[in-house]
Amino acid sequence: MCGIIGAIGRGEDTLDTLVHGLSKLEYRGYDSAGVALTGDGERIEIRKTAGEIDDLRAALETNRPSGRAGVGHTRWSTHGPPTDENAHPHADCTGEVAVVHNGIIENYQSLRDELVTAGHTFHSDTDTEVVPHLIESALADGADPESAFRAAMERIEGSYAIAAVFAGGDAVYCAREDSPLVLGVDDGATYLASDVPAFREFTDRVIYLDDGEVARIDDDGWAVTTLASEPVEKAVHTVEWDAEETGKSGYDHYMLKEIHEQPRALRQCLRGRVDELGGTVELDELDAPPRPTAVQFVACGTSYHAALYGAQLFQDAGIPAQAFLASEYVTSPPPAGDALVVGVTQSGETADTLSALREAKGRGARTLALTNVVGSTVSRECDRVIYIRAGPEIGVAASKTFASQLAALNLFALATANGGDREALGALRDLPSEVQAVIDDSTAAEVAEHYLDAEGYFFIGRGLNYPVALEGALKLKEITYRHAEGFAAGELKHGPLALVTRNTPVIAIATGDDELARKTVGNVKEVEARNAPVIAVTDGQSDIERYADHVLPIPGTHPRTAAVLANVQLQLFAYHTAAQLGRSIDKPRNLAKSVTVE
Ligand code: M6R
Repeated sequence: MCGIIGAIGRGEDTLDTLVHGLSKLEYRGYDSAGVALTGDGERIEIRKTAGEIDDLRAALETNRPSGRAGVGHTRWSTHGPPTDENAHPHADCTGEVAVVHNGIIENYQSLRDELVTAGHTFHSDTDTEVVPHLIESALADGADPESAFRAAMERIEGSYAIAAVFAGGDAVYCAREDSPLVLGVDDGATYLASDVPAFREFTDRVIYLDDGEVARIDDDGWAVTTLASEPVEKAVHTVEWDAEETGKSGYDHYMLKEIHEQPRALRQCLRGRVDELGGTVELDELDAPPRPTAVQFVACGTSYHAALYGAQLFQDAGIPAQAFLASEYVTSPPPAGDALVVGVTQSGETADTLSALREAKGRGARTLALTNVVGSTVSRECDRVIYIRAGPEIGVAASKTFASQLAALNLFALATANGGDREALGALRDLPSEVQAVIDDSTAAEVAEHYLDAEGYFFIGRGLNYPVALEGALKLKEITYRHAEGFAAGELKHGPLALVTRNTPVIAIATGDDELARKTVGNVKEVEARNAPVIAVTDGQSDIERYADHVLPIPGTHPRTAAVLANVQLQLFAYHTAAQLGRSIDKPRNLAKSVTVE
């Protein structure tokens, strides 16, 4: 949550560089935004405002600060409401230090009490504001800026990616603990940010900082050290995607663009990993993994739904598997024997998931990350990593990354179970073009129009379609702000049926014509008898259409890929409902893309 950026070496373009970078980080939070610039003057120039980056842009039109180095911030509130005062950057009493922060400073209250007693004046409710005052204290004691910055880092506890600039300074300092931070290296300019898109337009050369590291960026480039000032050698990586991939390419919303990108994302995920003739899957990342005795998945939100799907695949392969909500993992029984614990996380930075994986490591388990973001914290902390290769996802609502997670989980399960399932491999091969066909032919926009006044929405499915029902409901509620719940279809009659009325459409996913589909049709008859409208997502193999008011069709395919196709219809249904309600689709209220606090 929150996005931070810093830049030096851009001359007069520094302000625009910072604001541009913040607009690329807005998916991390959009409650307030601000910048601080330092030049030759004695004070730092800070501009900040409640609201989104566009509000900051408007404020800057009449009051542009200048400076050769600077930092910026876009906020997802944790301490104090989204006001101008709580917006970052925060300054010390003298106005000579400005700080931006992503994370939570757990001991801020005791530090604040101590600083107030020492005569410091605070202007915000934030935990962050202690940092510039700690730096100010160290400067007053005679420390130089870099030492003062380190001294402040040594006092704070919790999670942070922090950056600071000093009046008249010729450097930007940053440090990381449990929150993502990456440097961008260009000829003549250097950047720091919470995520690569912030500066990808300017450079593709990046350095991922690790916990406990401090970096100084200045006109000569960059230097990374430990908190104790020991130099650290860092590799410079090249990112493999273009800046254009983070633009909207003419779509009204990132989410719609990302739904449409799914065929390409799936092709990327599968490329070079499937040998259909030989009936095998090759995941270079795994180099012949021993078959684990059991698999535990840990994940949150959409990724948890993917994990539920993945657990079923492993169970089908005869390997006991279970999916856990990462935030509840600590209360679960320890993994038995040679169990593998798999963190499913698009961003690779979700605090709950990282914490569960650390717990698993502490319990002696091997860990594997299934993630989208190369160089993310999860990819560096786990023993192994499988990349889902979906490309950058900007919309807060996960769409293409869910599809790619499901595809990658298929590869992972097939590789672990030594492939062999030619039907599943064939279905994976056909999946990208089938997703394209669903997108091209979907009537979800028209169907959505019929239900804009619904009191609530229920999603039901069985087997692999159960996680899809959960995901359909999550997508709808997060971008429409309408009440929606997903259930295992068989559970409806055990309580939720009491809520079903003629004003609560039931979206039922029934694919194939097996027992699961037949039982789902039975559950649909139960809701139809209560006059609830039914929207069937189906491949036409069962007779669910007879009981449906509307049908969102998908092509007939393997049960594993049918779930992916059904989900595309649900994504479009949620998207078009939200669009017709005029919602803020890419930046739903109260949410953020990357949840880096527990
Ligand atoms: O980055 P992660 O996959 O770990 O994120 C976990 C959840 O916060 C995330 O899936 C969230 O539920 C989605 N953005 C909702 O669309």
